[in-house]
Amino acid sequence: MDRIKIVGGNTLSGTIPISGAKNAALPLMIASLLTDDRLTLKNVPNLADVNLLARILRNHGVDLAVDGKRAGPKAYLGETFHLTARDIVDTSAPYEMVSRMRASFWVLGPLLARMHRARVSLPGGCAIGTRPVDMHLVGLKALGAQLDIDGGYVLAKAPKGLIGNRITFPKVSVGATHNVLMAAALAKGETLIENAAREPEIGDVAECLTKMGVEIEGIGTSTLRIQGKPRLEGAVHSVLPDRIETGTFAFAVAAAGGDVLLEGARPEHLQAALDALSHTGATVETVAGGVRVARTGVDIGPVTVETQPFPGFPTDLQAQIMALVTRASGTSIIRETIFENRFMHVQELARLGADIQLHGDTATITGVPELRGAPVMATDLRASVSLVIAGLMAEGETVINRVYHLDRGFERLEEKLSSCGADVTRVTER
Ligand code: EPZ
Repeated sequence: MDRIKIVGGNTLSGTIPISGAKNAALPLMIASLLTDDRLTLKNVPNLADVNLLARILRNHGVDLAVDGKRAGPKAYLGETFHLTARDIVDTSAPYEMVSRMRASFWVLGPLLARMHRARVSLPGGCAIGTRPVDMHLVGLKALGAQLDIDGGYVLAKAPKGLIGNRITFPKVSVGATHNVLMAAALAKGETLIENAAREPEIGDVAECLTKMGVEIEGIGTSTLRIQGKPRLEGAVHSVLPDRIETGTFAFAVAAAGGDVLLEGARPEHLQAALDALSHTGATVETVAGGVRVARTGVDIGPVTVETQPFPGFPTDLQAQIMALVTRASGTSIIRETIFENRFMHVQELARLGADIQLHGDTATITGVPELRGAPVMATDLRASVSLVIAGLMAEGETVINRVYHLDRGFERLEEKLSSCGADVTRVTER
């Protein structure tokens, strides 16, 4: 199993290209189930989760052809996927797949809308919280689906197809919004989704659906008005840049010190995180071609942060900012309001010498003058990368085990960091 070895202490300088967003690429790939035409997605990141979803979609009958990497200096700019779901041969998504990647549950809405039936495993629990899917089910029921739960599976049918309706989510959910939005695209008549998630990845999917022929009003707001169509067309769409990868590298630069251009980053997609970063004393500047982050000669200041749905501070950056402020000159307060168990990184950061007290949903981090390298364990994707950030600041060597968590969501992480001067290597054991 691969490990990542980091020798801390180097500052970072140079350019880091931002990859396409994992959390947009996944639902965009799933949207290919809505049409028998070809959906071409550009700027798809090469990630374990993307490859797993490709396998799942192939099981449903989606034909997937991948163009070669682009030539030239920007060869990292992602891959181009051509997805064609001409014949859906299997409308069931098995437990072995859905339990490995929760987002594959989102095939439920599109399969039901197009094939009028689906059998999709419930995803089960997760390292960061219980993560129920009740709102997905309530939303699809509102569109006329008949749902049964049997043997851990959702058995869904809509013999006459789905019918548009008004859905008000009691709480903001990215996944439930994706699922219902995609289902509504092929439902008869108008669907109104109130209290929809506003994450940029939802907007990206909605833009793609628009290209496929769906009329959607309110993209980027919490009220989506969708005019479903009996048939959708193919489209060409480019996956938006990954705001979580952007924020992760921004915090890494602030942690290690230095000056880096995050190429292709869209600052408006992570303003709350960049504001928090500025509070720590780092310089954040929007420049042509991306965002420049620098910290030179100033201490890291403490922050008070609470995770919130977009446009608030993202839960997917909570572990990373916590790693940064372990070295702050003062006490930081970080409250996690989205997931009930997203603090697995706390005990690992403590192994490096961090001083973190946990009370319910709130972590109090008292900055320490130094961290010291140690072996640590990756527990989930974002927790793992927080250990990379801490490793960059720590004295000596940090070895991160269970790196497959990182490979799920960060493309060529060690290459991107080493190109800016970090001492990061992957150790492959055979
Ligand atoms: C998406 O997960 C992301 N995953 C997560 O990123 C991200 O952390 C999360 O949104 C919040 O931003 C992908 O995009 C693939 P939710 P999702 O439904 O859709 C509760 C990463 O590291 N809820 O918005 O599963 C739920 O338990 C991942 O890339 C219900 O109660 O998240 C949570 O407390 C991790 N009932 C809250 O809502 C439901 O039916 C928000 O979850 C659905 C959700």
